[in-house]
Amino acid sequence: MTDIRVVVNGAKGRMGQEAVKAVSEEPGLTLVGQADMEDDLAQIIQEFQAQVVVDFTTAAAAFKNTKKIIETGVHPVIGTSGLLKEQVEELQQLSAAKQLGGLIAPNFAIGAVLMMKFAQEAAKYLPHAEIIELHHDRKADAPSGTAIKTSLMIAEARQQTPPPHEEKEILSGARGARSHEIPVHSVRLPGFVAHQEVIFGGKSESLTIRHDSIHRESFMPGVCFACKKVVELNELIYGLEHVL
Ligand SMILES: NC(=O)c1ccc[n+]([C@@H]2O[C@H](COP(=O)([O-])OP(=O)(O)OC[C@H]3O[C@@H](n4cnc5c(N)ncnc54)[C@H](O)[C@@H]3O)[C@@H](O)[C@H]2O)c1
Repeated sequence: MTDIRVVVNGAKGRMGQEAVKAVSEEPGLTLVGQADMEDDLAQIIQEFQAQVVVDFTTAAAAFKNTKKIIETGVHPVIGTSGLLKEQVEELQQLSAAKQLGGLIAPNFAIGAVLMMKFAQEAAKYLPHAEIIELHHDRKADAPSGTAIKTSLMIAEARQQTPPPHEEKEILSGARGARSHEIPVHSVRLPGFVAHQEVIFGGKSESLTIRHDSIHRESFMPGVCFACKKVVELNELIYGLEHVL
């Protein structure tokens, strides 16, 4: 079988550089091109006859980039966070019309996917939940895509939404943001890579599920797996857990 031809977009960034290295070393994949801010992605796709584009850029560019990749008829593997629910749905319609497989994954680390699945399971029995996500201080968006996805999975799984109780924030933001009615707290500090805790509270007990990515290479087995998987799909999937 011939190798799958991959272009990495956002190749000069932290995740992009890691993806370039991982795709170059992965049997069954060939890195045929790299693109970043100043490049014409569509031209690079055509010039190098790419089959898959891996995108690790910015929230502001993610929708336009993914649309461009699908319109060019190439399979998208999107790691960039910040895509809104309506944008994901529009992209799914676009790829359905072309019967083109792709994947959008807020988190490519296998342990993070498991953390989300375990949180979904716990939410059936312990509906009171809060999320703390911790990232490096250069992360541009908050909350993380993983926190948003986790909150959606918890909201879908829990049988009842805990009733709100009277409380007053003495300092605005003290109780975090609300994502699908679940409080989300974002920490940004040097020394972190990507970490998340999901805390459940019950009667005289609590359960904490925690995942830590301590190096960006933790995302790469998932990225390489996705590059091989998307060429077999004919729809755009949201979440690595659906294809594992
Ligand atoms: N899905 C995951 O598993 C996962 C893991 C970590 C980070 N992320 C996400 O990946 C994204 C990138 O993170 P990072 O730390 O590498 O950021 P970064 O700032 O280091 O890199 C982003 C790169 O994208 C380039 N870029 C910006 N706009 C572009 C455009 N329109 N076209 C082409 N290139 C463009 C920038 O020049 C830069 O080189 C973020 O959204 C982050 O949240 C996802």
